[in-house]
Amino acid sequence: MGGTVSEVDLTGRVAIVTGAGGGLGRSHAIALAKHGAKVLVNDLAGDGPSASEVVKEITTLGGEAVAADASVADPAGAAGLVSEALAAFGRLDVVVNNAGILRDRSFVKLTEQEFRDVLEVHLLGAFHLTKAAWPHLKEQGYGRVINTTSPAGLFGNFGQANYSAAKLGLVGFTRTLAIEGRKAGIGVNVIAPLAASKMTETILPAEALAALDPDLVSPLVVYLASEACTHTGGVFTAGGGYFGRVAVTQAPGLVLAAPTPEEIAEQWSTVTDLTGGREFDGGASEQGDWVLSQVAAPSS
Ligand SMILES: NC(=O)c1ccc[n+]([C@@H]2O[C@H](COP(=O)([O-])OP(=O)(O)OC[C@H]3O[C@@H](n4cnc5c(N)ncnc54)[C@H](O)[C@@H]3O)[C@@H](O)[C@H]2O)c1
Repeated sequence: MGGTVSEVDLTGRVAIVTGAGGGLGRSHAIALAKHGAKVLVNDLAGDGPSASEVVKEITTLGGEAVAADASVADPAGAAGLVSEALAAFGRLDVVVNNAGILRDRSFVKLTEQEFRDVLEVHLLGAFHLTKAAWPHLKEQGYGRVINTTSPAGLFGNFGQANYSAAKLGLVGFTRTLAIEGRKAGIGVNVIAPLAASKMTETILPAEALAALDPDLVSPLVVYLASEACTHTGGVFTAGGGYFGRVAVTQAPGLVLAAPTPEEIAEQWSTVTDLTGGREFDGGASEQGDWVLSQVAAPSS
């Protein structure tokens, strides 16, 4: 195993993949190992998806992996994953925040507990693990963090207010960490996958599930995990072999000298027209500067 034929070579790199006892996480862990990485495979303890089974699969293939049962929602558990990776392999290069749960409910029925539970695993889980890993990545001047959002977060989905909030939260988390990690050689990106898994087996129709093997998403994770990938702060959707970037864009808009609700209503098509819209890879300060430049010298 490890980088003999592939250009994207993770030999010598160490990765943590959370929620990797099954589904997408399992595919990511195996794909990373096939490309030479040593992998700490995490999932919850209990009767569910087993991290140890995935470790067996990787070692059978000739790779190196260790299993670690912990909930990423537990700060100490998440920090423990970093210590275990360092103890087992002596370094840490890649963090794949993949663990997740659903508590789908229409908003009218959604409870505060269900809202909190989903944020705890997806958003705080990624926070706890990345927070523990960050100092090591920063110190070695290299790292790759891959977070997991969802089309539901990017575009909205009925019955998933909790999940959508957590998932778009991860996009904001990614964008800011990409800015903070840039000088330290830490690349941070986020994927919005679409795949057949335990999470989607009762939601997606059979023909969609048949087209959406999780193994078709993991090559993107391997690339984002590699030194070959210098893109940071990106949002990428992937499923069934499709790959494409997703972006937040801002309309050119217009400047009103003395805005009234009526004038805004009248100009609504200009306010909402994204033609010629732009992104702000320099972050919120770049966007703020741009807005101020428009106000100072309105184009129309
Ligand atoms: N499958 C899709 O189409 C799809 C779409 C959008 C986003 N996603 C995201 O992809 C990720 C993987 O999902 P999947 O489809 O493979 O689902 P899955 O249910 O098969 O996998 C999620 C894994 O996370 C584990 N997990 C749950 N809570 C955990 C915790 N607190 N600590 C550690 N592990 C925990 C589960 O045991 C499970 O093995 C999730 O973040 C999910 O939201 C999936």
